[in-house]
Amino acid sequence: MERPELDIVVLGATGFTGVKVVKCLSEAVGLRWGIAGRSKDKLGKLIMDLHNTGNWVNSGCFKNKSRYPHYINAPIAGLDVSKVPVFNVDVNNKDALRKTTSQAKILMNCVGPSTIFSEQIVEACIESKTHYVDISAEINHILDLYRKYQRAAEDANVLIIPSCGFASVPAASGLLYLDGQFEVGLRSLNISGTLNTVECYVELDFPKRAYFPWPGNCLVHYGTWESLVYVLRNMKEKFFHRNNGKLWYPYPGPDEDVIEFSERYLHKNQNKRPVSFKLYTTMPLLIHFIIIPLMFMYYYLCYFKCFSKLLRKYPRFFTAGYMSHKGPSEKMMQAVTYSFTLIGKGWSSNVEDFSVPTNKTLKCK
Ligand SMILES: NC(=O)c1ccc[n+]([C@@H]2O[C@H](COP(=O)([O-])OP(=O)(O)OC[C@H]3O[C@@H](n4cnc5c(N)ncnc54)[C@H](OP(=O)(O)O)[C@@H]3O)[C@@H](O)[C@H]2O)c1
Repeated sequence: MERPELDIVVLGATGFTGVKVVKCLSEAVGLRWGIAGRSKDKLGKLIMDLHNTGNWVNSGCFKNKSRYPHYINAPIAGLDVSKVPVFNVDVNNKDALRKTTSQAKILMNCVGPSTIFSEQIVEACIESKTHYVDISAEINHILDLYRKYQRAAEDANVLIIPSCGFASVPAASGLLYLDGQFEVGLRSLNISGTLNTVECYVELDFPKRAYFPWPGNCLVHYGTWESLVYVLRNMKEKFFHRNNGKLWYPYPGPDEDVIEFSERYLHKNQNKRPVSFKLYTTMPLLIHFIIIPLMFMYYYLCYFKCFSKLLRKYPRFFTAGYMSHKGPSEKMMQAVTYSFTLIGKGWSSNVEDFSVPTNKTLKCK
């Protein structure tokens, strides 16, 4: 296969985030890059802006330029736009998409919403053997892509790297930094260090005026909002499960974590393949609408010690009589039952290739 001409193509270059990515790229030296998008007019305007002196000088991507030796301080005024290839592509057009992805070593995907568009882009990148980076934060969708394309990407020797934006670069790079520091700190003593746990606290610092939704005080662009709405819509399939004619949601007990510890232990000590274990519970639909919002409200209000004191003092009042200091009667205890139904899926024979679909299901109660 011929080596692509370009290092990077930014797809979705005309979007709110895409434009910012292009701004940063236009300050980079020695990189060959191009832009791609579905609207010819918007791409043309972007190219004109790139050529336009004042628009780009203050992009602010690399404020502390001494820390980024690959970037120069020179204004981008008069950037030679004839050297910026432009690809007009709708991601729903498979052939055009494949042609675009094959132009570069790396495709930066800024198209949104990711849940709708990223799968076909990942597919095209694997086909054209182009590394892929995006800024998605939709974890369930990312996990779906991982399950579906991990093997194909490995076979094609292609890196598929989602979530390279606010999610999850600051946290991941902080962890890498700590890990490195830990080793460096001990190297002088000739001890090889291993970082064990990290607690990460994220604080968003909004200006006070952001709390008042006057026009002009917007915090987040529509593209992110639209992606969030799709995440909420997909919760129907991901958060809630339909099984046996009922609606189930994740069980809030410790069982999952405890089982994960055991699985890790068995993997480490007996080389047993860990099993993925999920636990769900259910209750009548009407109660969902009462209990779940109440649980969230109590969760927040328990921040105040006085509220948790009230919860302890008046359990009947705050639980509509379901909890009391006296506890259930013997008759009630006899009447209450519980059941755990486990559905296991796996392979009927010993397999080495775990990307092969499972072919055996066992159920126990
Ligand atoms: N993780 C993070 O830190 C982070 C931060 C910001 C945004 N994001 C995510 O980034 C994504 C984009 O957000 P945004 O605010 O930049 O949205 P946006 O301004 O609406 O941009 C979306 C881009 O996708 C393009 N697009 C949509 N459908 C297309 C299609 N069928 N073919 C080709 N291009 C298509 C749009 O093209 P047109 O210009 O022609 O409409 C536009 O360039 C969202 O999923 C958002 O959640 C993540």
